[in-house]
Amino acid sequence: MNKLFRKKPISDLVAASHNKELSRSMGLWDLIFLGVGCVIGTGIFVITGVVAATSGGPAITLSFIIAGIACALAAFCYAEFSSAVPVSGSVYTYSYATLGELAAFLIGWDLMLEYVLAISAVATGWSAYFQSLISGFGFHVPASLGSAPGMEKGGLIDLPAVLIILLITALVSRGVKESISFNNVMVFLKLAVILAFIAAGIGYVQPENWTPFAPFGFEGIITSAATVFFAYIGFDVIATASEEVKNPKRNMPIGIISSLLICTVLYIAVSGILTGMVSYEKLNVADPVSFALKMVGQNGMAGIISVGAVAGITTVLLALIYAQVRLSFAMSRDGLLPKKLSVVHQVYKTPFSNTWLTGFIAAGIAGFVDLTTLAHLVNMGTLVAFTLISIAIIVLRRNFPDLKASFRVPFVPILPAISAFLCLYLASSLPAITWIAFVIWICAGLVVYFGYSKKNSNLN
Ligand code: ALA
Repeated sequence: MNKLFRKKPISDLVAASHNKELSRSMGLWDLIFLGVGCVIGTGIFVITGVVAATSGGPAITLSFIIAGIACALAAFCYAEFSSAVPVSGSVYTYSYATLGELAAFLIGWDLMLEYVLAISAVATGWSAYFQSLISGFGFHVPASLGSAPGMEKGGLIDLPAVLIILLITALVSRGVKESISFNNVMVFLKLAVILAFIAAGIGYVQPENWTPFAPFGFEGIITSAATVFFAYIGFDVIATASEEVKNPKRNMPIGIISSLLICTVLYIAVSGILTGMVSYEKLNVADPVSFALKMVGQNGMAGIISVGAVAGITTVLLALIYAQVRLSFAMSRDGLLPKKLSVVHQVYKTPFSNTWLTGFIAAGIAGFVDLTTLAHLVNMGTLVAFTLISIAIIVLRRNFPDLKASFRVPFVPILPAISAFLCLYLASSLPAITWIAFVIWICAGLVVYFGYSKKNSNLN
C-alpha cells in the first residue's frame, strides 16, 4: 500500500536539475512566445466555427471567457508548482514529488492520452487550412482523401493530416529542434495573421448577426466552453521549459499567466468578429476564419490567413510531439513504462523509437477520427489533469509548508478548490461517449500500473 504513495524527494529533483548542464538562455519574452506558440492553433482557427454553429452561437465569446477562467485558475497552480519545483517534466514530475507514485502515473497516463490525441486533432485542423490554401491555386485533395470517415464530405481518410504528422515526426526523431528564434518568427506570423483578420473583419461586422446572442441557451454556452477549452491547451508546455529559463522563479509564473491572457483577448476578439461577419449558422466549415473573409469577398486576405494558419498550426504540432515524447521518456526513465521508450538513438541522440511510436499512433488516429470527437477526449484528459494539479497544490501547501515558491496561488485552498470544481463542471458537460472512452483509458492505465510499473519502478 505504501508503495502507491511513495514519492520522489523534491530536493533530489531540484539537485538533479542543478547538475544538468542546460543553459539558461530563455528570457521572459521567449517564454511568452513559447506559450503563445504552443497554444494558438486548431482551436481558434477551426473549432470556433463548429462550436458557434452547433452549440454556442455568438455567445461563444462567453464560452471563451469561461474556458479562459478555468485555465487561468489552473495556470496559477501550474505557476506555483513550476516556481517551487523548477525542474522539467510538467505535472507528472510535480505530482511524483507531492502526491506519490500512483497519482503521478495516472496523471502521466492521462496526459499521454491528451497529447497523442491533441497531435491528431491539431493535424486535422492543419489539413483543413492546407486544403483551403491549395484550393486557392486550383488544387484539390480528392474528397475521399481529404477528411476522416463519418463526415458529410464522404471522406475515407484525412491524408494530409496523416502526412504532416509523419513529416514532423521525421524531423523530431532526427533531433530537429524548434529553435527559439524559429519559434519566435512563427509566432510572430501567427499573431500577425490573427491581427490582420481582426483588422480586416471588423469593418464587415453586422451587429444583427449577434442576435439571437445565445440561441442554444446557458447549457449551450457551457457545452461550448468545454469544447473551445481545446484552444487553450498547450500553455502547460511552458512549465516544461523551466530548466532553460533565466530567473525561473519570477519568469515562469509571469510567462504562463501573460501568454494565457494574450490568447484569451485574441480569442474573444476573433470569435466576436467571426460571428459578427457571418451568421453563426453558416460557420460549420473546416476553415471558418478564411471562410468568413471569402464570404465578404476578401479572397486575397483569406489566402493570407490560410498561409498563416498552416504555418502557425505546424508549430503547435511540433510542440505537442515534443511534449508527448518528453513525458513518456521521463516515465520510462523512472521505470513506470518500458525502458525501450527511453532508449536514445546513437546517432541522432533522440528517443528515436519513442518518437516514431508516437507519430504512428497519432497519424493513425488523425486519419480516421473527426476533430470534434478528438477534441472532446483531449479536453477530458486535460480537465482531469487540471483538477488533479489544483488538488495537488493544496497537498503541496500542507505537506511542504517550507518550500519556497516565488509565486504562490492566492487564497489556498479556496482558489484551487474553485479551479478543481470548475474543471469538473466543464468535464461533466462533455458527451457520455467521451466519458466512457476516458474511463476505459484510465482502467487500462491501472492494469499497466499494477501489472508492470509498480514492479519496475526505480523507487522499488
Ligand atoms: N491549443 C492548441 C490548438 O488550439 C492545441 O491548436
